Amino acid sequence: MSMPVAAATDSPASRGRAARGLFIVLEGPEGSGKTTQVGRLVAWLATLGIPTLRVREPGGTAAGEEIRRVLLDSGHVPPRAELLLLLAARAILVEEKIRPALEAGTVVVADRYTLSSLAYQGYGRGLGAERVEELDDFATGGLRPDLTVLLDVPVEVGEARRRAAGLVDDRIEQAGREFHRRVVEAYRLLAQSRPDVVVVDGTGPVDEVERAVRRLLTRAFPETFPCGEG
Ligand code: TYD
Repeated sequence: MSMPVAAATDSPASRGRAARGLFIVLEGPEGSGKTTQVGRLVAWLATLGIPTLRVREPGGTAAGEEIRRVLLDSGHVPPRAELLLLLAARAILVEEKIRPALEAGTVVVADRYTLSSLAYQGYGRGLGAERVEELDDFATGGLRPDLTVLLDVPVEVGEARRRAAGLVDDRIEQAGREFHRRVVEAYRLLAQSRPDVVVVDGTGPVDEVERAVRRLLTRAFPETFPCGEG
């Protein structure tokens, strides 16, 4: 029986940038306000009449949400297993939702993607950024965001916000201050060496951060966001 040489999604033509849509990722450490800003961004795109898909990680698909429960609610998950579970969830999300949406010309807004794995598993868990990147590339078939916006906040600010909101820590959030300090530093380091990652100061008021994100997007993609800052 003959076997295909490579899966269809791994063919050179389907790697790299999305064919038509736009793939935007919001990233940041715990308490950076990322999820709030994803909501604001998606609402803005709706007012502009731009077809949008919002996804979050880990999760975003039926199987992915089950993996999310294992990752965030269970007792002990060894770091390598944590990475592989995250990447399995991402592989499903890319295949089922993100790639088809991009091919249909949709703007995809993701709450976390590859940069999270590099920061949390590569640096935070110490698995190594190069190895994580290689495995991530395999999981996603090489699908990279057009732009990743990093909301930068110091560990103390993130902690204080989460305390003030009365949020209960999940398994990864319980990893301790030193772990989260490594994550914050890793995000900053990664942003410096990647032209497709832009940093926004996430410590200001929500409206101000929202304006900064809009400004960035209108500057980076004037054909998609023709209305200025809205
Ligand atoms: P979530 O409740 O969505 O937190 P947040 O609102 O901060 O995004 O939980 C996601 C958790 O999973 C968060 O602690 C970060 C972690 N995570 C990783 O460690 N690596 C990854 O690749 C991803 C996508 C998430």
